[in-house]
Amino acid sequence: MLTDRRILLVVSGSIAAYKVLDLARLLRKASATVHAVLTAGGARFVTREALAGITGQRVHDDLWAAEAEIGHIRLARLPDLVVVAPASADLLAKMAHGLADDLASTILLATRAPVLVAPAMNPAMWEHPATRANMAALVARGVRVVGPGLGAMAEPESGPGRLAEPPEILAAVEAALAPPGESPHAPGATLSPAGRPLAGRHALVTSGPTHEPIDPVRYIANRSSGKQGHAIAGALAALGARVTLVSGPVAVPDPPGVTVVRVETAREMLAACEAALPADIAVMAAAVADWRVAREAAQKLKKQPGAAAPSLEMALNPDILATLSRHAQRPGLVVGFAAETERVVQHATEKRLRKGCDWIVANDVSGGVMGGERNAVHIVTAEGVEDWPELPKAAVAERLALRIAQTLA
Ligand code: C5P
Repeated sequence: MLTDRRILLVVSGSIAAYKVLDLARLLRKASATVHAVLTAGGARFVTREALAGITGQRVHDDLWAAEAEIGHIRLARLPDLVVVAPASADLLAKMAHGLADDLASTILLATRAPVLVAPAMNPAMWEHPATRANMAALVARGVRVVGPGLGAMAEPESGPGRLAEPPEILAAVEAALAPPGESPHAPGATLSPAGRPLAGRHALVTSGPTHEPIDPVRYIANRSSGKQGHAIAGALAALGARVTLVSGPVAVPDPPGVTVVRVETAREMLAACEAALPADIAVMAAAVADWRVAREAAQKLKKQPGAAAPSLEMALNPDILATLSRHAQRPGLVVGFAAETERVVQHATEKRLRKGCDWIVANDVSGGVMGGERNAVHIVTAEGVEDWPELPKAAVAERLALRIAQTLA
């Protein structure tokens, strides 16, 4: 219950604004007092009269209204929590940069109350580096975030950006107003929906390259940076999963809230993965070496004057993805990766069947993907192929985590 709690509900412009009437109704039902502020964009989608009718309060929308001169300061001081729903890309940008050119943005700059935002926008806008930077700045400042959720992934313009459902926003409001210690989420700690759809699930993620020793000082490796796998581990944790990240040698930092097991070779990686079972989800993003040197030299190989270069005999490494896909304790959803340089989807489709996993995330690595910041992937499942646009690796990770949550729901 939210008895005696005062919520300032800021409604900005989005097609999803119609849902805010439902949210206002739920807040009132939970005994909160709700004062609404409407931006010019918000007013295009929901009327002041409808909001006033549901909240039982006058709706505020004009910074320059006769009585508003002190009004915005009074409104900023009034609430126990400011809820921005829907939060448009524009209003989030204003918040991130401290702009104050209308009533809503002025209140958001003037308030000392905690703030919860429920973003809603087109997926391309949500995934744009500008919005990501704005969100990172807001989260770092302690702003709480609920959603956005995933639209229908089959649509061409689909992806994250859908306003969280009103009951989900209500749960986030209750969490934000819960006495310290009782709230399951620290302010600003995550970008996750309040429902934390992967709570109670264990996810196993592999990341990075493996190093296969030749002798005590030399090894065979590849160019994997671990950026994509680590981002996926972080995104799954942000949705509430308990995550075990089995990582080869990488320079990227550990994602927050994740248990990291460090390994070097493919055989160590397999042993660490099996030790981490049971798991509900396995995402095998590591670039595991297919071969190792059959006999690792105990001493450093020496260059002998006049002698020919040594030749290395190779042995096949275990296939971790195929092993987990056919394991007695097989995770419910097994996701593999396929780095291809040609006929990407065809090879990935064949690989999905050969390895026995549920999905393959296929990417074209003919460009600078390995070690780079961006990735264009295709998700190959039993149902078909989803082509995702080229995105920053963090956005690919967030989409994949949301897609996994949607599938397990
Ligand atoms: O067969 P390929 O190496 O292209 O398959 C890539 C997928 O298989 C990735 O998900 C990778 O993590 C996994 N893999 C593995 N163990 C291996 C080789 C690849 O788990 N030995």
